[in-house]
Amino acid sequence: MIGVKKCLGDDLMCDAIYIHIPFCIKKCGYCDFLSFSCEEKDAEDRKKYVKNLIEEIKLYPKLRYNTVYFGGGTPSLLEVNQIKSILEELTIDENAEITLEVNPQSVDLKKLKELRKIGINRISIGVQSFNDEKLKVLGRIHTKEIAIETYKNARKSGFTNISIDLIFATPNQTIEELKKDLDIVGELDPDHISIYSLIWEEGTEFMKLLDNGRLKPIDNHLEAEMYELIIERLKKIGYTHYEISNFSKPKYESKHNSKYWENVDYIGVGLGASGYYNGVRYKNNVEFEEYYKDIENKNKPILEDEIVNEKDKLENYYILGLRLLNKGVEVKLEDKVYLEKFKKLELEKYIVEENNKYKLTQKGFLVANDVFVEIME
Ligand SMILES: C[S@@+](CC[C@H](N)C(=O)[O-])C[C@H]1O[C@@H](n2cnc3c(N)ncnc32)[C@H](O)[C@@H]1O
Ligand code: SF4
Repeated sequence: MIGVKKCLGDDLMCDAIYIHIPFCIKKCGYCDFLSFSCEEKDAEDRKKYVKNLIEEIKLYPKLRYNTVYFGGGTPSLLEVNQIKSILEELTIDENAEITLEVNPQSVDLKKLKELRKIGINRISIGVQSFNDEKLKVLGRIHTKEIAIETYKNARKSGFTNISIDLIFATPNQTIEELKKDLDIVGELDPDHISIYSLIWEEGTEFMKLLDNGRLKPIDNHLEAEMYELIIERLKKIGYTHYEISNFSKPKYESKHNSKYWENVDYIGVGLGASGYYNGVRYKNNVEFEEYYKDIENKNKPILEDEIVNEKDKLENYYILGLRLLNKGVEVKLEDKVYLEKFKKLELEKYIVEENNKYKLTQKGFLVANDVFVEIME
């Protein structure tokens, strides 16, 4: 079991909490996040889950949080009162960033206003695409119109920090279709954009369709061209490319997600949630019954944990830190093996040194995973 109390020491920051809500109206074909459809888990299940989640939070010392992130799944599927009851369990800084992931089909203007009222001050809308045909292929339950309406309703409700999630390199996507998506992004003007290329995850419906030849990934060169286009277009309309897949208006970087990339401690609660706390990485139980049993016994519902050794800590610092494109990482002289690797990557123009910090170049972040492998080898 983790010695969590040490985290309260003066020199250790632990001001972030991730809260996992593993329910969705319907599973999307490409998604392998831990979540269950309404067919599998109903309102009663959600009620039981929230009750247990609150008990799990009580198993941690009363920490003061500066960022709170409700992720999923689809947290916006919960009733506002349920979200409120979770928030009431937490001690939250006055200026904290409190994010809730929202699926366009799961909120209307009234619910968004209520969410704003209970203290949610940032929402992340899972748009994925503004193309109805693509949304259908992805297995989304909303249309382009509903996505746009949700975004506008969020603004009307007083949200001044709105992020949208998009996926590119979807089956058969063309550059023209991507440009149309980016045009709509420009019109809506969100404060933050997360845009990932489609990942073909093992065990998903998409993987089955790939195996039986009914879907196929787009060409690698086209995917790279799309990524370059996204960077160019979003920069042109005022976004900072601050992380490999994340863009924001100045000062609207995700404070919570930046903590992951800065490799600082955070608590993770909920089914299957991960956390990094006091030098230990842990992952919660992924089975509801196991999760509930532990909580009933007043044990943290942890499935596995691991003390992060010095080598892994350093590599995590490099790999995660390099993702923050404008910050970069410092490589100390005594870390000779890594310094040599960084110098080699610098010669090859994948990274650049500026003010004693190494940062990925455009050449580098286009092949970021290969760069990370070189550092870890
Ligand atoms: C856990 S989901 C939460 C958002 C909300 N459930 C929704 O989809 O509207 C977070 C984001 O992960 C991204 N995502 C999930 N599976 C992905 C995949 N296989 N490839 C790329 N992005 C993916 C989507 O952009 C999604 O919005
Ligand atoms: S992408 Fe979002 S809505 Fe779709 S299954 Fe995954 S978590 Fe649920």
